[in-house]
Amino acid sequence: MKRIHHRPQVIFKKRATAADMADSASSSRISTDTDVDEEFVHDFSTTLSSPAMAPEIPDLFSYAPPVVDSLETETSLKQNEVVQQCLEYLTAKDPDSVYNLHGVARLERATHKAFLHKGLGKYPDRFVPADASRPWYLYWCLSALALLGEDVSSYRERLVATARSMQNDYGGFGGGCGQTSHLATTYAVVLALTLVGGGEAYEVIDRRAMWRWLCSLKQPDGGFQVAMGGEEDIRGAYCAAVIITLLDLPLNLTPESPAWTGDESKTLFTDVPEYVRRCQTFEGGISGQPDTEAHGAYAFCALGCLSILDAPGRIIPKYLDVPRLVAWLSSRQYAPEGGFSGRTNKLVDGCYSHWVGGCWPLIEACLNGSAGATEANNLPQASGSLFCREGLIRYILCCCQDLPRRGGLRDKPGKNSDPYHSCYVLSGLSSAQYQWRWAPGENDEDGWNVSLYTDEEQIYEDNDLVAPIHPVYVMPQSAVNDIRLYFSAKQGF
Ligand code: FPP
Ligand code: ZN
Repeated sequence: MKRIHHRPQVIFKKRATAADMADSASSSRISTDTDVDEEFVHDFSTTLSSPAMAPEIPDLFSYAPPVVDSLETETSLKQNEVVQQCLEYLTAKDPDSVYNLHGVARLERATHKAFLHKGLGKYPDRFVPADASRPWYLYWCLSALALLGEDVSSYRERLVATARSMQNDYGGFGGGCGQTSHLATTYAVVLALTLVGGGEAYEVIDRRAMWRWLCSLKQPDGGFQVAMGGEEDIRGAYCAAVIITLLDLPLNLTPESPAWTGDESKTLFTDVPEYVRRCQTFEGGISGQPDTEAHGAYAFCALGCLSILDAPGRIIPKYLDVPRLVAWLSSRQYAPEGGFSGRTNKLVDGCYSHWVGGCWPLIEACLNGSAGATEANNLPQASGSLFCREGLIRYILCCCQDLPRRGGLRDKPGKNSDPYHSCYVLSGLSSAQYQWRWAPGENDEDGWNVSLYTDEEQIYEDNDLVAPIHPVYVMPQSAVNDIRLYFSAKQGF
């Protein structure tokens, strides 16, 4: 869906009463542009630049779906509740938000930054159960701050000391001092070090030990275990591909690797795409392991992993059924909420703004790129956007900001913000605001070219723009280029 017609216009005039708020039907009466009824509900004079102007909110995002399945289940009832709750925020009735003329809430950048800086400080006792996730907290907060335009290099010294304590002699990083190395925590530490940047941060990583450890996780079927003796899943394949390419590690296998056959042409990347292919399910989405349930987070891992191994336009259609994947991804976006769910029959959640929203730049690059996805594979060229950017932007800015005081981004109204949702909601906002093209050789280091998405009317203010985020590495492109250049210029380890 590309354009949504702004008709009829919702007119708001008088401050809503509590009863109005409770009854969304009475609090958002409809009038056409030419037939303006004067008596309605919300006074925008405190929030809009001109009190005479009323916000334009398309019907699609102002009303519950007109057709509903008559079968009531626990899930359908929950879904109805979420719709009603989101509608309050989507129709500009949150007293803690400042709305523009499109009925889109302002990004409260300073409040979110304060929340994220706090997230990089000390945690109270109740966070003990999250101890093994400390590397993630570091990455989420640093990445979200970078998305908000903050220079995070000031955290370098502290991060270097913390990351050192998490590294194991046998390679990789655990969740903390003395904890077993895991691909997810290693991915998070490597990304955090990349974000703060600089040789001092990069040199924390014992690359030789990392390479040996990755070889010990590589499996004969092409995938990666996430830890020695741990489960093998698509997170492992994506995290390994990110780590190997950011650190410019050798691809050859050690004889100790479970994937070692004596055939020296086999590498860390051998059969990875085949493993990814086996994770596409009957629904068209991607599961964590072959023959399990498709989930948006794994779809991102699959597409990110493939896009590291080769041009998206070549490799994605070679290993995945793109039309079925596109159909499944499209079904993840809901109206009126505008955000994404992670799987069939589940609720919208802000973090899928990245896990699902981040799939779209890769799919769009696959279908629009110069590396010939479309002709060779009988796929149509994707003109414009394949997802509803307006819907996603409305969900993020209206429903996902934890206001007025706490700051940070959240799953949905009624939930508290946290660093995880802050990182991935803002990453999703970035995917909706920019457009990425795979065009190697065009003024860039790694083939990815970004521009602001301008094909539709901009419904957010310029101040609500976040930074572009690399569609594969989920960090600023300059940080990705810096670390790759640093290690590729090094001789040996
Ligand atoms: C279900 O959660 C969530 C999953 C099955 C996948 C979680 C995986 C990730 C977030 C990706 C990790 C990626 C890397 C790179 C390590 P739920 O049942 O609470 O949520 P739902 O109802 O929305 O499905
Ligand atoms: Zn979530």
